[in-house]
Amino acid sequence: MSTGKFLETLAGKRFPTPPIWLMRQAGRYLPEYRAVRATTRSFLEFCYTPDKAVEVTLQPVRRFGLDAAIIFSDILVIPDALGQKVWFEEGEGPKLEALTDPADFGKLTRARLPEKLAPVYEAIRRTRTELPKETALLGFAGAPFTLACYMIEGSGSRDFAKVKGWAYRHPESFGVLIDLLVDAVIDHLTYQIDAGANAVQLFDTWAGLLPEEQLFSWSLEPMVRIAHGVRSRHPKTPIIAFPRGVGPAALMYRRPDAFAVLSLDTAIGAHWAARELQPHICVQGNLDPLMLVAGGVAMEREATRILDKLGHGSFVFNLGHGVVPQTPPDNVAHLVEIVRNWKPSVS
Ligand code: CP3
Repeated sequence: MSTGKFLETLAGKRFPTPPIWLMRQAGRYLPEYRAVRATTRSFLEFCYTPDKAVEVTLQPVRRFGLDAAIIFSDILVIPDALGQKVWFEEGEGPKLEALTDPADFGKLTRARLPEKLAPVYEAIRRTRTELPKETALLGFAGAPFTLACYMIEGSGSRDFAKVKGWAYRHPESFGVLIDLLVDAVIDHLTYQIDAGANAVQLFDTWAGLLPEEQLFSWSLEPMVRIAHGVRSRHPKTPIIAFPRGVGPAALMYRRPDAFAVLSLDTAIGAHWAARELQPHICVQGNLDPLMLVAGGVAMEREATRILDKLGHGSFVFNLGHGVVPQTPPDNVAHLVEIVRNWKPSVS
């Protein structure tokens, strides 16, 4: 039975051209997203309204015929479900009541997570019934380090100095928070798969801030524990790891025992990835989101270069990070056309 190009590629099948989806493919660059978004003030309330989450998840698939949809939600639903105060300020991004003391961790609990995040699972169930059979549905979560960044800093930050200060000075108490997040993320991904997600992606957006040894302890090791936890319940569901900004340390994430796919940011060379990563693991990436804004010949040339390097192996076309709000939707349609019309050169 055909399960569609995305899942079959992950299972090892090769097609003339790779599957394509884009991180943050649902969002403010689409007028139809802005129209639905305008009906709810609070961003989290928007995420927790299944009708709206389903609608905006389907929008980019309808418009561009992508090979996968990613459920519309946010990584910060986990701190919210654990009992930390989270809100979004217009034009400023996320705000959280920052954790300032290990005693604050005691107030966080996983007990209410399934109930709090039930609307996300409901949106997944409904999206799965509305999506074409051959379109995969992805669930996701933030990786523990990236979640800890927002939970301790209380907002976005250039260098996340508070988090790093805590992790370096008090690794034991930082480990307590990471362990709690490992368990919460296992729960959240497992419930998403129970509800119908066909694959899941772990976003470690801020992994690249860490030096090698801490990268191992606070990014890779927790992500591997999560993958093993999820796989014990759902051994066949592919897990995609996105350790953004880690450079050549991406080699550490070549862990087929944990991850089916390694998602690459823009700074990783496609040639290097084809040689060092792709023989061991399916790779996903890594067009610069700003190439998608530029469009035209520059985008055509760069997308084709990536396809020429990675399109001969196990590969999912994507960006190196999320679609940005100033992206012209027509450039996305053009990119899908470039990928679908790519002709592998005989070398
Ligand atoms: O289409 C999809 O990819 C699914 C939806 C999705 C969102 N956030 C919706 C969103 C996904 C996968 C995320 C992940 C996410 N959220 C990450 C990891 C990936 C990455 O981009 O690095 C992070 C770090 C967050 C936290 C977050 N949420 C920030 C920093 C912001 C503000 C930045 C901004 O673009 O304004 C958000 C808000 C957010 N999450 C928006 C969307 C579409 C924009 C807010 C709005 O529409 O009002």
